Amino acid sequence: MKKAYIETYGCQMNVNDTEVIFAILEKAGYVRTEVMQEANLIMANTCSIRDNAEQRIWGRLEVFAQERKARPDTLVGIVGCMAERLKDKLLDTGKVDLVVGPDAYRSLPRLIAAITPDNPQIDVLLSRDETYADITPVRTDKNGISAFISIMRGCNNVCSYCVVPYTRGAERSRDAHSIVREACDVYQRGYKEVTLLGQNVDSYLWKSADECVNFAGLLARVAAIAPDLRVRFATSHPKDISDEVIETMAAYPNICKHIHLPVQSGSSRMLEKMRRKYDREWYLERVAKIRSIIPDCGLTTDVIAGFCSETEEDHKDTLSLMEEVGFDWAFMFAYSERPGTLAQRNYPDDVSPAEKNRRLNEIIALQNRKSLERYRAQIGKKLEVLVEGPSKRDPEQLCGRASNNMMCVFPALDRKPGTYATVEVVDSTSATLICK
Ligand code: 5AD
Ligand code: SF4
Repeated sequence: MKKAYIETYGCQMNVNDTEVIFAILEKAGYVRTEVMQEANLIMANTCSIRDNAEQRIWGRLEVFAQERKARPDTLVGIVGCMAERLKDKLLDTGKVDLVVGPDAYRSLPRLIAAITPDNPQIDVLLSRDETYADITPVRTDKNGISAFISIMRGCNNVCSYCVVPYTRGAERSRDAHSIVREACDVYQRGYKEVTLLGQNVDSYLWKSADECVNFAGLLARVAAIAPDLRVRFATSHPKDISDEVIETMAAYPNICKHIHLPVQSGSSRMLEKMRRKYDREWYLERVAKIRSIIPDCGLTTDVIAGFCSETEEDHKDTLSLMEEVGFDWAFMFAYSERPGTLAQRNYPDDVSPAEKNRRLNEIIALQNRKSLERYRAQIGKKLEVLVEGPSKRDPEQLCGRASNNMMCVFPALDRKPGTYATVEVVDSTSATLICK
């Protein structure tokens, strides 16, 4: 039996893609290993979203190359977004036997069989319809409680800073029945939570001869599987999140009350230039709508500092929006120019690295303050958590997430992972609720 080792970088979609790859590799006679030194096939499932993501992978490639030198029969593969973006440039290093893009994983067995020392193999064709709908992912999560399910692939929103439409191709939605089947299957295997994944879940739309299912419809179908199966989803797009989706969330207690709603900037001028197709007012209206229907909804976001031509005033608009909304948590980045994107072709990357960093640090400082406020506001509340396992800091304690996605720690007593517990919040940091 041959062994495959895969390191995964980037987003949750990539984590799920790695699970699909393991399922495909099983057909080629590979089992999964977590030990690189015993692997016959070493791969990185890569990310291109920011330059530093790619730099990390060039570094890993050196490590893989050393391993291949020590054990010459070992194959090295680069798959995922960076494979799609850099293609031959990866092969030209002479350190890679296999380069495969996100839509070509089905060809892995054939490609691997064709590899010889002088014949590395490449397939980076993007597809209009590949969704891997029929492939049952080999789950790689550690606890058997929470599973990720891809509901769509690719992206049709050409945000001017973003490389994803080029690395993952056009948007396509997966057969709704295959999604519900996969969710039922993991529930029957004891999982208690599924997270539905897509670049823009709100534009999910699947049609067959006699059915048309949108995202709200899909959410309802998955939520109806079992009342004790939690349903989460990511990522939502502010321009597409509909009242129907928000109302569906409200209607099902087991749909978790958390929305990841990337704003990117608080300046309408920047949003226009980013081609986000909404402005500050639209975003604030969506937040108000969410909070009017689901008052306790957890809200998180992504923010980019120092996009092309961003002025101090634009930056202040971002700070004031974050102040006004009060996100529970945010992923915050300095703008990183990506080759081939609309922004790279049309706008100079003219905010200096030092200035980007200063703005980013202000954004982070503000968010830390807001996170602490939002978490402290939970003190005294009773929350239902899905017990995940021992807390990282203190093995005497358990941890688990509340519906709003906040992490809770609480005394273990006799609670078991995979069960629900009601806890009362007694204290907090800016990232954890301390409960009893
Ligand atoms: N530079 C910095 N951040 C980016 N993101 C996407 N592209 C870039 C880029 N070129 C961020 C966005 C997106 C998140 C996944 O990554 O905030 O929501
Ligand atoms: Fe990275 Fe985006 Fe590709 Fe995910 S889709 S791996 S975040 S570039």
